Amino acid sequence: MKRRDADANALLAELEAMKARGATLAELKDAAVAGLHEGDDRFHWTGIYDLADPETLRLGPFRGAPTEHVEIPVGRGICGTAVADARDLNIPDVRVMSNYLACSLKTRSELVVLIREGDRIYAQIDIDSHRVNAFDASATAKVEQVAAWLAKEYGAARS
Ligand code: SME
Repeated sequence: MKRRDADANALLAELEAMKARGATLAELKDAAVAGLHEGDDRFHWTGIYDLADPETLRLGPFRGAPTEHVEIPVGRGICGTAVADARDLNIPDVRVMSNYLACSLKTRSELVVLIREGDRIYAQIDIDSHRVNAFDASATAKVEQVAAWLAKEYGAARS
């Protein structure tokens, strides 16, 4: 049974504890995706796409149905547009988007939050919901907190 966590604090504490025990970035990313997905009944697909090279997003850990969109060129779809425009995207109804790449015909709204340090974009958290306009201020803030936490770990892993 899914919960609807009020904020990201419990998940961030869990990630900090894993980090203290020596977890790898891959393990932390997987736990972040799982925690977000299980913590909100509006999240029907939750995943991380890594910016594998400057032109390509590649699917990392995810929860929900498998998707054919394992690689997405920067500039394509909602995910690729977020990177090309260097901004988060909260799409209340994907049916009005001409550049939408469908993962599931049930998807109605989509949230993309970049994992970044300043101008440096490492990856993104992508979430699909079957509900129209699912991503309200509290849901968005929760995902932003987790993305900001992960950004520091990406930075540390690459330095
Ligand atoms: N809908 C995304 C593709 C990824 S799936 O949602 C998992 C897009 O338009 O970029």
